Amino acid sequence: MITAVKGMNDIRPGATEAFLDTRVWDTIFATAAEVFESYGYAHVLLPVVEETALFARAVGEETDIVSKEMYTFEDRGGRSLCLRPEGTAGAVRAYLEHNLSRTNALQRWWYGGPMYRAERPQKGRYRQFYQIGAELLGAPGVPAEVEMLLMLNTLMQRLGLQDFSINVNSLGDAPSREAYRKTLQEYCLQHEAALCESCKRRIHTNPLRVLDCKRESCGAVVENAPDILNSLSTEAMAHFEQMQTMLAARGLKVQRDRRLVRGLDYYTGLIFEFTTTALGAQSAILGGGRYDNLVSEFGGPPTPAVGFAAGVERLALLLAERLNLQQGPQIYLAPVAGAHTAAFVLADALRSVGVQVEVDVSEKALKHQIKRADKLGAEHVLVLGDTEITSQQGKLKHLKTGNEVAVALDATALKNTLLK
Ligand code: HAM
Repeated sequence: MITAVKGMNDIRPGATEAFLDTRVWDTIFATAAEVFESYGYAHVLLPVVEETALFARAVGEETDIVSKEMYTFEDRGGRSLCLRPEGTAGAVRAYLEHNLSRTNALQRWWYGGPMYRAERPQKGRYRQFYQIGAELLGAPGVPAEVEMLLMLNTLMQRLGLQDFSINVNSLGDAPSREAYRKTLQEYCLQHEAALCESCKRRIHTNPLRVLDCKRESCGAVVENAPDILNSLSTEAMAHFEQMQTMLAARGLKVQRDRRLVRGLDYYTGLIFEFTTTALGAQSAILGGGRYDNLVSEFGGPPTPAVGFAAGVERLALLLAERLNLQQGPQIYLAPVAGAHTAAFVLADALRSVGVQVEVDVSEKALKHQIKRADKLGAEHVLVLGDTEITSQQGKLKHLKTGNEVAVALDATALKNTLLK
């Protein structure tokens, strides 16, 4: 038997693991679309395949994502392509390719779709995973950052998720970051012996990543490491403080996390993550930040930008427990042999007044049809036999309570009975 590729999931109704149930996913996507569009974000659908160089340059050659986790291949023309590991680089490419930096620099985009990283699969971590994300291009200041965090908080509230904290940090501008990189590198070299093998390498390639190493021994070293805020320029520090003040004024609580660095190289200034203790090791529900240099690094004019992406599987793991998945159609129409045409007519009339209907097409005995309605979690069942069709009267049975109500076989009358 051919099975799905390791770390890639089938999202389907009735999935054994509730977080892979389509109904959970539909709720997440519908809520996200509603919230993002209510903030003026427009939906974009960008390619899943891009040139490898795009991510090597944007995300960074030395990051785990690019150096170890990309699905890269050569196409027939000998070009190096890859399955996108994230959405920001593609968004910036499209923004430049369509000349928006010149014609309409301020853009609010949101997207949702699969991303690919060859990580070791575990709960909350997959090789094909979905993100919903947004990019706000062309806005330099604190309001853009505050608005994005407020929007994300709204998304979490709309999904009914409360158990999370918002962690923020600032990487400062390029000179501040370079100064900090040096300070941290020196500190790490002094404590090299206590660091894990990966961190010993990171000292030279990407010292900031030592800060978020999960190993206890590295944690102990990091505990006393110099704080990045001490390296921020006066402007960068004022910006970071103003953002926190503005968020507080809107009642949003955030925590400064001095170990937060993020695993992608394009960030400048603000970085943030929403985390939870409910997901075990994969605690980040979403992450993002400011990336003011990416557009210009790809040849565009200086264009400030801020964005985020959330892991849909992680949202689904949190949401699955809260949703009632046992929700079938409002009416399950069970026709006897020969009654399908009448059933389709009634079903269409009901749908046109907004009632969800499923017509049984199994052609099995009524007993089996009713069993299926029950299994589906249908609210009511309505049997359509010769008597019902001739008299245009039927019995609407509520499956949970077993109550039966006599009704005319008329869409509006049936709908009104449902509403009672
Ligand atoms: P990221 O932190 O790499 O950021 O990913 C964002 C979110 O995607 C994570 O917080 C996590 O929920 C989810 N995620 C990442 N890897 C996996 C995985 N292997 N399995 C399941 N979920 C995963 C970005 O991708 C940036 N593009 C975000 C951004 C947008 N920054 C600015 N704009």
